[in-house]
Amino acid sequence: MRALSTDKIRQAYLEFFSKKYSHAVIPGASLIPENDPTVLFTTAGMHPLVPYLLGEKHSAGKRLVDVQRCVRTGDIDEVGDASHLTMFEMLGNWSLGDYFKKEAIAMSFEFLTQVLGIPVTMLAVTCFEGDKDAPRDEESAGYWKAMGIPAERIGFLPKAKNWWGPAGKTGPCGPDTEMFYWVGEGKPKGNPATHDAEWLEIWNDVFLQYNKKEDGTFETLKQQCVDTGMGLERVAKVLQNVESVYETDRMKPIRDAFLKMVPSGASTISLIRHSRIITDHLKAATFIIADGIKPSNVDQGYVLRRLIRRAIRSGKQLGIDRAFLPGIAQVVISQYTTAYPLLSKKSAEILETLRQEEAQFGKTLAEGLKRFSQVSEKISGGAIDGLSAFHLYDTYGFPLELTKELAQEKGLSVDEKGFSAAFEEHQKLSRAGAAQKFAGGLADHSAETTKLHTATHLLNAALRKVLGDHVWQKGSNITTERLRFDFTHPDKMTPEQIKRVEDLVNEQITLDLPMNYHVTSVDGAKKEGAIGVFDDKYAAEVKVYVIGDGSFSKEICGGPHVARTGMLGSFKIQKEESSSAGVRRIKAVVGGGPKEIQVAGEVKT
Ligand code: ALA
Repeated sequence: MRALSTDKIRQAYLEFFSKKYSHAVIPGASLIPENDPTVLFTTAGMHPLVPYLLGEKHSAGKRLVDVQRCVRTGDIDEVGDASHLTMFEMLGNWSLGDYFKKEAIAMSFEFLTQVLGIPVTMLAVTCFEGDKDAPRDEESAGYWKAMGIPAERIGFLPKAKNWWGPAGKTGPCGPDTEMFYWVGEGKPKGNPATHDAEWLEIWNDVFLQYNKKEDGTFETLKQQCVDTGMGLERVAKVLQNVESVYETDRMKPIRDAFLKMVPSGASTISLIRHSRIITDHLKAATFIIADGIKPSNVDQGYVLRRLIRRAIRSGKQLGIDRAFLPGIAQVVISQYTTAYPLLSKKSAEILETLRQEEAQFGKTLAEGLKRFSQVSEKISGGAIDGLSAFHLYDTYGFPLELTKELAQEKGLSVDEKGFSAAFEEHQKLSRAGAAQKFAGGLADHSAETTKLHTATHLLNAALRKVLGDHVWQKGSNITTERLRFDFTHPDKMTPEQIKRVEDLVNEQITLDLPMNYHVTSVDGAKKEGAIGVFDDKYAAEVKVYVIGDGSFSKEICGGPHVARTGMLGSFKIQKEESSSAGVRRIKAVVGGGPKEIQVAGEVKT
């Protein structure tokens, strides 16, 4: 086995798939999904690629490879064991209607055994056992056998284990085949179907063949795609032969920096668990802040707050009574900035955000703990009621996990349903709001969001015409109900300016102009005057969406968009407000267009 560093594994993966198997290397996306109303964070490499997996053309071609930073809050309770993280890096390769099972499995096997040098004897795989929706995946099992994986190392498991997606209610999904490394005592035994706990999952090849529909049925996808995801930290743990992901080369310095701060006398068990929580949570928090989020009480900001506060509380548990977050974040930045230069660029903001949140939480924590004791003393064995848990959250800033953990220490539980009910009542969250989004989900590429996406292009162009060329997109977020667009502009817009922008957009809608796209290089796009978010990393080849003759709007974008502007019906700005210093925010809606739309197609140039 080759004892590769984390940085070398990333590089080896990208090189293997790009040089040997002609995949285009595309940049990983932000942790904060753009134009995706159904989910708070990017949870897998396939996430930003959903439109292309559903048939939209990708400018870089049919074979893609990347490294994607991911956040999975669903795993938060497992953080502290040897392998679960809330933030991790996923190495992924994709076939968009190109190769399928046979080639994907052969490439995975070659990478694991030849490039990483993992002995075949240490590997096992699982395949889908079959049910009413799809047959038993003997085909994949057959390819593994042909590669040299013996039958006893191949397990068959049901949908709960060997089926991936859709992460939301609808979308691309299919059977998968997962690869495992033996982490048990002694010689490898059986496979994950027989010895689950002793096999560590390191990679997943998903065969996206179906689209799950609203009514729960599966339809065959127009194109069969492959979506794979390898856990970088887990593979590093295996190759570096260390006990947990926290001892791998890039994670260990973070944990060590923290361990140095711990006063002697902490119990070993709590030291292991809490130092792992701190390492994971502060790494996640650092990346989330770098991607533009501030702690708050809603959406991504609330997740960030939970992570930070849980880390603070873990520090307290180990007897740390001074501010420690910025010091640890500094180490996260220095470990990961080669792979993610964004971290250095944003370091001042990251450190200051953590400093402030730590100072603020420090003040209320002591009072909250007092309150918690009062509440918990009143009950003996049983659950802390939802309203009390919510009160701890609302008044003392205690994330639910913190209350749960404190409760557990006293042999109590928390009425989580009651907490959610109180939470929703208070926030008056709409059904499409945060509670649902915590569950995760895939991009909604409905007619409504596609229309709003096109409206965003028209709005962007109209703002530049009315306010000037200093207007640049700073952020965009679309739900099925409205668009939200952040842009650079120093002053509040006047009612006249707002009216003028609205009129310009509606004019373009009334003209019912055709919309289409062509593929070109980033430089080519700039030369022809297309606008874009140029501090983003674009792939070498991009799509430029053009409305009409291009004189009004020409913009770099992944799509999809409507085929004619008339499909938007009409456009209305609902709100114009400040977003942050020098950045304004517009919320707008469209209405009255057709329910069914056609999407903009490609023009070859
Ligand atoms: N999307 C697949 C996963 O996350 C590869 O496991």
